[in-house]
Amino acid sequence: MQIQNDVQRILKSNIVIVNASAAATCLFDGINVSLFSEEQLHPTISIPMSEQQTILITGASGLLGANLARHYSSISNCVGWYKSNSVNITEVTAEQIDITNHETVAASLEHIQPDLIIHCAAETNVEWCEKNPELAKAINEDATEFLAQKSVELGAKFIFTSTDSVFDGNIGNYSETTQPVPLNSYAAGKVRSEALVAKVNPNAIIIRSYFYGHSPSGSRSLLEWVLVRALAGNEVPGFTDSYFSPVSVHDFADAIDAAIENDHTGLLHLGSSNRLSKYDFAHLVMEAYDCDMSLLKPITVDDAGLKADRPRDTSLDVSLQASVLGKPVPSVAEGVIRIVSGSNPFR
Ligand SMILES: NC(=O)c1ccc[n+]([C@@H]2O[C@H](COP(=O)([O-])OP(=O)(O)OC[C@H]3O[C@@H](n4cnc5c(N)ncnc54)[C@H](OP(=O)(O)O)[C@@H]3O)[C@@H](O)[C@H]2O)c1
Repeated sequence: MQIQNDVQRILKSNIVIVNASAAATCLFDGINVSLFSEEQLHPTISIPMSEQQTILITGASGLLGANLARHYSSISNCVGWYKSNSVNITEVTAEQIDITNHETVAASLEHIQPDLIIHCAAETNVEWCEKNPELAKAINEDATEFLAQKSVELGAKFIFTSTDSVFDGNIGNYSETTQPVPLNSYAAGKVRSEALVAKVNPNAIIIRSYFYGHSPSGSRSLLEWVLVRALAGNEVPGFTDSYFSPVSVHDFADAIDAAIENDHTGLLHLGSSNRLSKYDFAHLVMEAYDCDMSLLKPITVDDAGLKADRPRDTSLDVSLQASVLGKPVPSVAEGVIRIVSGSNPFR
């Protein structure tokens, strides 16, 4: 299988054993890996923010927001907004703000005076958005437009996190110039938000992606969902007919740094250098954590009986990402190894 070959290739060719005592150990196909060089795990990218600057991260209690808050907390003033799950990250000032309350949002922004706003807060439950279109609009669209407007007034850079599921998934390998065709209410809201952000703040960066990593709750990403089930000895159903090109939260953060550094504006697809099925992704993760592989079961999207329609191939063309990064985009196997090799920062 191509992915296993990728893992074997990475393991055989790139490993530099450094500081093995301090590093975690992971297993891929029974090979003990101890581990990567610091540069491979944490590439040196000059972070274009400084101590004097203030970054506001909305959705800082979520999967992406928490990882970005950790990423920026040591180099800038970092403020993290949350709604119901408090943020407990060293050197991050946490504020409980409901983004649908525009008055509170405006007052807090006035106080914070951010140089950069990374807008990660959203209602991400696709089924919930299908059933609650008005509430979903208030959170995912109206609040996004309001924040984008405020970013212009404050002279702050604005980064909006959209989704790879703006596409219908019939072709795959979508580039920034492909016309989105959303299949469900959540994705349609993201398409409208992208247009609103681009109109209100033409200097904004609009990122489409699918990412994975550890989160404060331990249950927000597909990687965690697979691990929680597998480590509890439960079956792990994996879609064999749903493809994507997910990016690790660490590679996502590096790409944001590069995009800011290069003054990128407009759409930017963030993914990995290869596409794979969700079944194969679960296989990679379970192998990496030495799980019982017999728990992994192939299923199809139709078997799952979901209410909201799901695109079948949301893989992204990452040519622009490579050009913004100035280097090749990591593969999924490389991204998973980067997550597995680090400790879980939220434990
Ligand atoms: N996960 C993915 O792979 C993926 C894929 C494509 C796009 N995206 C997009 O990327 C962004 C981040 O996703 P994620 O997976 O990190 O999300 P997540 O883990 O589901 O977290 C969502 C965040 O939004 C906050 N939030 C929700 N409603 C809010 C409200 N009314 N006011 C203030 N905060 C609110 C939540 O706060 P509390 O937890 O405190 O309630 C939480 O911090 C979202 O825009 C999402 O649509 C995600």
